[in-house]
Amino acid sequence: MANEFEKIPTHIGIIMDGNGRWAKKRFMPRIFGHKYGVEALRSVIKRCSSLGVGYLTVYAFSTENWNRPQDEVSGLMELLVNYLRSEVDELHENKVRIMCIGDIEALPETAKREIANAFEKTKDNTGMTLNLALNYGGRDEIRRGIIKLAEAVKKGDIEPEQITEEMIGESLYTRGQPDPDLMIRTSGEIRISNFLLWQLAYTEFYFTDVLWPDFDARELDQALFVYNQRNRRYGKV
Ligand code: FPP
Repeated sequence: MANEFEKIPTHIGIIMDGNGRWAKKRFMPRIFGHKYGVEALRSVIKRCSSLGVGYLTVYAFSTENWNRPQDEVSGLMELLVNYLRSEVDELHENKVRIMCIGDIEALPETAKREIANAFEKTKDNTGMTLNLALNYGGRDEIRRGIIKLAEAVKKGDIEPEQITEEMIGESLYTRGQPDPDLMIRTSGEIRISNFLLWQLAYTEFYFTDVLWPDFDARELDQALFVYNQRNRRYGKV
């Protein structure tokens, strides 16, 4: 596929929703949908990386997802471990840098080990940054940032009124990264569900009824086509 787009977003965020419904339509267990969701993710990463997208942030596991049935939670963790084990080498060859946003300390040991390995292996890569949002919640991220800034105030390093928007941005998991230009949510849900709350302030949103396992490079191109027709004004005329 050629790159026919005038504007390629520097940063794309994706809420990969609809795996459960995709499986249900096929009378299969929910984890089956997540498995096919990994395939969709694979093709989207490939397309983004070849188009020159700088940062891709995908919502893989939210702070609320722990409330799902135990077998679904453990199935998702297993998928994550298998995904990292099987994909890291190829991602590394494609110069992708793997990072995580979220409280990964609370993840199972095997997942933490694979994440540490993926970080270490890909940390100097200069291609696309892939942020896996794992045990991530936007409010929790902001809360942690506020704690850091409050500690700096308490130590006397800064005065409260010296806190800038930039300092807040730098206290978040996404520190050093540009805010998303485009946020995609699949499966027909029109909400942001605690994803990148601070960072989405000026982001263009693209919602599609397509369920995540059916999302692929062509669907991504459709989102980019729509994005290219948008006129971003950032509050100006
Ligand atoms: C939402 O669908 C999807 C998730 C909660 C998990 C997303 C995970 C993947 C795509 C695969 C795992 C990722 C990695 C990196 C290995 P849902 O279950 O809420 O679907 P539903 O709304 O139809 O029930």
